[in-house]
Amino acid sequence: MLLSEEITLPCGLRLPNRLCKAAMAESMSPSHIPDKRHARAYEDWADGGWGLILTGNVQIGDTYLGTPEDVAILKRPSAAAKEIKDCWNVWASTCQRNGTPAIVQINHPGRQSPFWCGRRSFFAKTIAPSPVELNLGSSVVERYAVSFVFGTPRELTIEEISGEGGIIDQYVEAAKVSFDAGFKGVQLHGAHGYLLTQFLSPRTNLRTDEFGGSSAKRAEIVLRIIHGIRKVTNREFCIGIKMNSVDASTSDSVSDVLEQIKLIVEAGIDFIEISGGTYENALMTRVTDALPDPDSAATKKTAARESFFLEFAKTVRDTFPNLILMVTGGFRSRVGMEEAITSGACDLIGIGRPSAVLPKLPKEIILNTEEVSDEEAHVALTPVQIPFLVWMIPIKQVGAGFQTEYYGQQIRRMGNGLRPRDTRLRASEMGRL
Ligand SMILES: Cc1cc2nc3c(=O)[nH]c(=O)nc-3n(C[C@H](O)[C@H](O)[C@H](O)COP(=O)(O)O)c2cc1C
Repeated sequence: MLLSEEITLPCGLRLPNRLCKAAMAESMSPSHIPDKRHARAYEDWADGGWGLILTGNVQIGDTYLGTPEDVAILKRPSAAAKEIKDCWNVWASTCQRNGTPAIVQINHPGRQSPFWCGRRSFFAKTIAPSPVELNLGSSVVERYAVSFVFGTPRELTIEEISGEGGIIDQYVEAAKVSFDAGFKGVQLHGAHGYLLTQFLSPRTNLRTDEFGGSSAKRAEIVLRIIHGIRKVTNREFCIGIKMNSVDASTSDSVSDVLEQIKLIVEAGIDFIEISGGTYENALMTRVTDALPDPDSAATKKTAARESFFLEFAKTVRDTFPNLILMVTGGFRSRVGMEEAITSGACDLIGIGRPSAVLPKLPKEIILNTEEVSDEEAHVALTPVQIPFLVWMIPIKQVGAGFQTEYYGQQIRRMGNGLRPRDTRLRASEMGRL
């Protein structure tokens, strides 16, 4: 089975198998330091037989956060700095205590930072490549919600992007902190509508300077971050990036994105993870947890039915046959995961929500071919029930946020030493096994 085969990334990092615990924000650190609860939660994943562990997104500073309790890179006086460093070291060593490599996802939310998330004044605007407001929908309530929660972002100056201590330096510093702690690499969060996605997309980057105006210039910030990270770490340190696929919901052109990927590959990226969606359209956490109807089951392969973004991965694969590709979103069965890899569409399978319900999913189910048959090796999850009052809010993203929050709660249960709630659908509930 290819899923259980080792793979070596260009930096030399060896992953013992192809199953990757995808990045999921833990949202459990009011101090923004990865504390004991982080270590406790990651003990479960460290023991789970994963090929790679990606941490939840770590913000490159604490001024703009995605949630109030995100881990962030902090500039603190030297006494506190030692304590912070110790916490990072414990986090890295806990994740990797059974030899699974762990990588830190580093991020800046850009315009997707709600006003209450981050150490800034109530009136301070969010920042972005261009002052383009989020579009959550055209109703009065949706427009009011955007203005109130996010506001119109302020355009970053060139100095703020590439000057000393600017955005690029902050990404590089975040990578250095991860490197010093003993993590095996970092993943730049260039998906889901956060700051790097905002730079890459022509819909949100209207600049005409060195950071915008063409697909290559829109990727310039990413290239400089990669080069910067290489300078402060070494060639063995893994650098990956999570990027959005191009589909009917985006107006980005495939050729533009492929050009950006070419530049990113030339800059020395070790792997690309394909995902999709933003706060405007949360494709990444859509619900497909029940098995599909028999008609589509008869005509479509399991991998194509389960995975949200496999089609785009195939397009990338056709252009870059040697690039290590990971695809995340929707995978629920051994058969589907194995198919995706044997078809050549990707090399690595990213798994998010099921890993928050079953932290030892690879060891106990997917790679456990001795005890679990192919028919049984799946984790269809019961869709999260949205409370009536939440349904009544006329903003569809609130429902998507509620879904995500449910799985965040499971991670926090792990942090508190509890087992996450097992919400797997039973065979009888699926009515087809
Ligand atoms: C609680 C939660 C937190 C998440 N946080 C992140 C994150 O920090 N970074 C990221 O790239 N994706 C994040 N995601 C998205 C997942 O990495 C993944 O792309 C998504 O859940 C789809 O995969 P799945 O169908 O296997 O769950 C999060 C998802 C959930 C449920």
